Amino acid sequence: MPKLTINGMEIEVERGTSILQAAEQLGIEIPRFCYHDKLSVPANCRMCLVQVEGGPPKPAASCAMACGDGMVVHTESEMVKKARKGVMEMLLINHPLDCPICDQGGECDLQDQAVAYGFDRSRFAENKRAVPDKELGPLIKTVMTRCINCTRCVRFAEEIAGTPVLGQFHRGEDAEIGTFIDQLVDTELSGNLIDVCPVGALTSKPYAFGARSWELKKTESVDVHDAVGSNIRIDSRGREVMRILPRLHEDVNEEWISDRTRFAYDGLGRARLDRPYIRNADTGKLQEASWEEALAFIAVNLEGIKGENIAALAGDLCDLESMVALKDLMDRLGSPHMDCRTDGGIFDTSVRRGYTFGSGIAGIDKADAILLVGTNPRLEATMVNARIRRAWLERGVPISLIGEAVDLTYPYYHAGTTPGDLVKLAKDHAKQVKAERPMMIVGAGVFAREDGEAVHHALYEAAESLGCIKDGWNGFNVLHNAASRVGALDIGFVPGKGGKDFRDIIAGTKDGSIKALYLLGADEFSAKAATGWQTFVIYQGHHGDRGAYRADVILPGSAYTEKDGIYVNTEGRPQFGKQAVTPPGQAREDWKIVRALSESLGKKLSYDTLLQLRERIKTDWPHLLDIDVVRASPWKAFGHKGKISDEPFVSPVTEYYKTNSICRASKTMADCTESFSKEKMLEAAE
Ligand code: SF4
Ligand code: SF4
Ligand code: FES
Repeated sequence: MPKLTINGMEIEVERGTSILQAAEQLGIEIPRFCYHDKLSVPANCRMCLVQVEGGPPKPAASCAMACGDGMVVHTESEMVKKARKGVMEMLLINHPLDCPICDQGGECDLQDQAVAYGFDRSRFAENKRAVPDKELGPLIKTVMTRCINCTRCVRFAEEIAGTPVLGQFHRGEDAEIGTFIDQLVDTELSGNLIDVCPVGALTSKPYAFGARSWELKKTESVDVHDAVGSNIRIDSRGREVMRILPRLHEDVNEEWISDRTRFAYDGLGRARLDRPYIRNADTGKLQEASWEEALAFIAVNLEGIKGENIAALAGDLCDLESMVALKDLMDRLGSPHMDCRTDGGIFDTSVRRGYTFGSGIAGIDKADAILLVGTNPRLEATMVNARIRRAWLERGVPISLIGEAVDLTYPYYHAGTTPGDLVKLAKDHAKQVKAERPMMIVGAGVFAREDGEAVHHALYEAAESLGCIKDGWNGFNVLHNAASRVGALDIGFVPGKGGKDFRDIIAGTKDGSIKALYLLGADEFSAKAATGWQTFVIYQGHHGDRGAYRADVILPGSAYTEKDGIYVNTEGRPQFGKQAVTPPGQAREDWKIVRALSESLGKKLSYDTLLQLRERIKTDWPHLLDIDVVRASPWKAFGHKGKISDEPFVSPVTEYYKTNSICRASKTMADCTESFSKEKMLEAAE
């Protein structure tokens, strides 16, 4: 391992480490523009110049020079300072310096580095060049005159997103960044281009001129738009969420987030339920009510209904605490009819290893063969797909897919579409599997069918015969797409003894056996499922969406940015979501609503504060309070042997920008649906 000296300090580093990385390990800052630790190294900005003793008599680009044994490096010598000033002066020749109207102002690498390392005047009196802006779609605003041609965006689009639509054209003064043909940047990761751009050339279109970074309150939280649990920062001003940015978590989302996570926030301010409503028996219309009236209305309507005729469904965005409170209430009402699988999923919920992402998301980095079953990870869990792509790109990991053939941003072997194809593949390949750490990633959609439990068992057998489970390796992974799902399964928000599951509950609302139905943020069922109900429906949630349309009483709850709550991701990793803003109007935190209702019904729950509720969770499910820890669970047989139909697997996500009530209320997401429709893209290309 090479040993070198940087600014008089000795360090020994791994072979291949660059001088810039070695300096970082010593806590020495070297300015840079084009270098990004998750992207390839083009060494084109020259901002990271350092002096290497004994080398050629000129500064060297530290991001591209590997450490050598005995090297003596200076990062603060006169030569280096002069070189940096020269680079800054060159970069600013054509830069407009319109900081007062630039959205990057206050968080701009160019601003910061000009102050720290630059020169306080310019020797260039020539006119600055102007570069035409590019149309990249409804998410990214371009001011290309500000571009410093670092090519980070080009490399991100090509290497991470897998959509190589950006490039650098022309040479010298005419060099500019653009799309090869006039087309939008069609990737679910496009918002990250804004983060990688070190200047204000690429900024957020929905956030344009909205706020300055120093005015914003920053709250660290987690995302709920899928089951990845991406770590985010919510930037708010007063009661408004102004933007959402990624937070680094190497094992979950690294430093990226998907476009839904980043841009759907405008939906938080639209179509909100901000006061209780009750349905007027005479007019049949919903009318405003006070909390007392709404709770009393429920108490009157539930009077005389037995527990066995009451059911509850928990939706995709629910926090753990509210689901525990509702489950406790259902237990007190004597109802076993509960389900969180509002996609109609049927599978064995008794074995935790059978419904979690056992290898961990970061486990993808170790897999040497990946089989995707009935999933489109690009739409269901964009950050997971980015890791799979990297496994293929950097390590050549072979990928196979059983399910609908779709563009995943990497090549794969299409091994079929049906459960039968899975069984055949497992049989044919079991003896020939050469991989040491093979991995199966199973989309939650494979269980949303009548034979879900039998498919679950077939998956268990396939995982066994393909060698996905062995000492030190857990290669069986279920990829959920609902943020609430694993938490709900862990606490048993599923049918109790003799209880009905989602399908039976829906049937019960039509045949009269279910007389009262509690929808906790449950919106993701089809219009067909929600017709013909002869049931008293309580809807608790934050948006006037599918669930609220059919409600007899509406209890306004809080969105994920408006409450503290625990969310358990697809790996089984509990994480804290934090309140950034207050809920609108009379909306309240969800667990408190359930608690208040329990009192009105004479079934008072035993906790009065969030802390007490969490203590209650800790008693029954201690692992859910081990924040950010993925507890290993034992591998044993799951599912039930049975007849499996030959119906092909389908992904549960077809409309990426409309997957939940927040997205459906978002204008930005509606614009994306419109702009990225196939027809529009073709039109633009022509
Ligand atoms: Fe100012 Fe940075 Fe914007 Fe350039 S990119 S105008 S330096 S804030
Ligand atoms: Fe770099 Fe931004 Fe220009 Fe892309 S647009 S090359 S990221 S400065
Ligand atoms: Fe080294 Fe750009 S950071 S050349």
